[in-house]
Amino acid sequence: MSAALNILGQPVQPAANQIPAHIASLPDYEQQARHHIEASAWQHIQGGADQQLTLAHNRAAFDALRLVPRPLADLSGAHTRQMLLGQPLEHPILLAPVAYQTLAHPEGELASVRAATALQAGMLVSTLSSHTLEAIAQEAQHARHALQRRGPLWFQLYSQAERSHTLELVQRAESAGYEAIVWTVDASIKRSGFALPPGVAAANLRHVPSRQQAGSIDGPPLFGTPLAQQAPTWDELRWLRAHTRLPFILKGVLHPQQARQAVDCGVDALIVSNHGGRVLDGVVSPIEALPAIAAAVQVPLLLDSGVRWGTDVVKALALGASAVLVGRPQLHALACAGWLGVAHMLHLLRGELELAMAQLGCATLEEIGPDVLWRNT
Ligand code: FNR
Repeated sequence: MSAALNILGQPVQPAANQIPAHIASLPDYEQQARHHIEASAWQHIQGGADQQLTLAHNRAAFDALRLVPRPLADLSGAHTRQMLLGQPLEHPILLAPVAYQTLAHPEGELASVRAATALQAGMLVSTLSSHTLEAIAQEAQHARHALQRRGPLWFQLYSQAERSHTLELVQRAESAGYEAIVWTVDASIKRSGFALPPGVAAANLRHVPSRQQAGSIDGPPLFGTPLAQQAPTWDELRWLRAHTRLPFILKGVLHPQQARQAVDCGVDALIVSNHGGRVLDGVVSPIEALPAIAAAVQVPLLLDSGVRWGTDVVKALALGASAVLVGRPQLHALACAGWLGVAHMLHLLRGELELAMAQLGCATLEEIGPDVLWRNT
């Protein structure tokens, strides 16, 4: 059998068992990861919708914001801790739900949850994880015991065609010890041309009929198909909220009016996200949409899509987020150096955050306000 090739046309390199010496930032991990991931999986991971306008804009919108340093602050006792949904967070950086992590490394989510625990970062486990949600929760328990550390463990829910299957996922997550349910509503209808390689599958859904993809060549494009009929609705939100005792978070909101409506339905927090630019092209970036949402609702807001630097974290917090999530960087780091890579990636981002806070004269997260941004001073 011929060796799998990476995007550079070379044989895929296995993950290193130590942190590569030259890596000093998340973009460094992205560069290095090209060597470690098979070409079609790389395109799937990196890709954005259509012209990839949103993908590029997610970065440009962060880059357009300018910071104003404030030296001379007293930084003794400075920290990055906070309480979020009644759970202690050591720092405001979480691992976004990312499907099929064994595409990047044989240990997949088991490695990621070990890294998250070591760095006391929250991890959101995808419905489409390549290990079962129970196995990932068990790995988290082992790591918590071994390291005497912990971070929040939340379950990301995708609705299934039958409500009974959706509810079963919620109940399995509750039984396995997950501490919040995160319902993603922005990606139920999207194109995907990526065929999973042998051995990679949605481990949680082995007994569940798979959902149809949008736009098959020999049928109606979307309207009139089961996919359109089964898309998430407000009614389903109210039903789900009533069926879990856990904090309930909505992921994929960009409109302030929808944010308000979601809170009226009992949602405890929102993740302002455009799914990393993967679903609808030309969409506003979360960092642009955030101020209007922060003005519209009182619940905690998290943000993802394009976060790559500690200064991005500061910018998100300045505009009203409580925390941020990183998506693709966890796969990059996983592919380069397994769980050590993911732990290092989180460590780098947290270090950059603290550096930025120090320069901006912020000793705590609460001190990061709109006045750290030039246009708002
Ligand atoms: C995702 N994302 C995602 N979101 C979700 O709610 N459930 C999922 O299963 C997945 N799966 C997934 C796979 C891959 C390969 C990517 C790149 C992304 C979206 C993810 O949670 C997050 O919103 C974005 O990745 C954030 O953007 P960045 O950090 O990748 O720019």
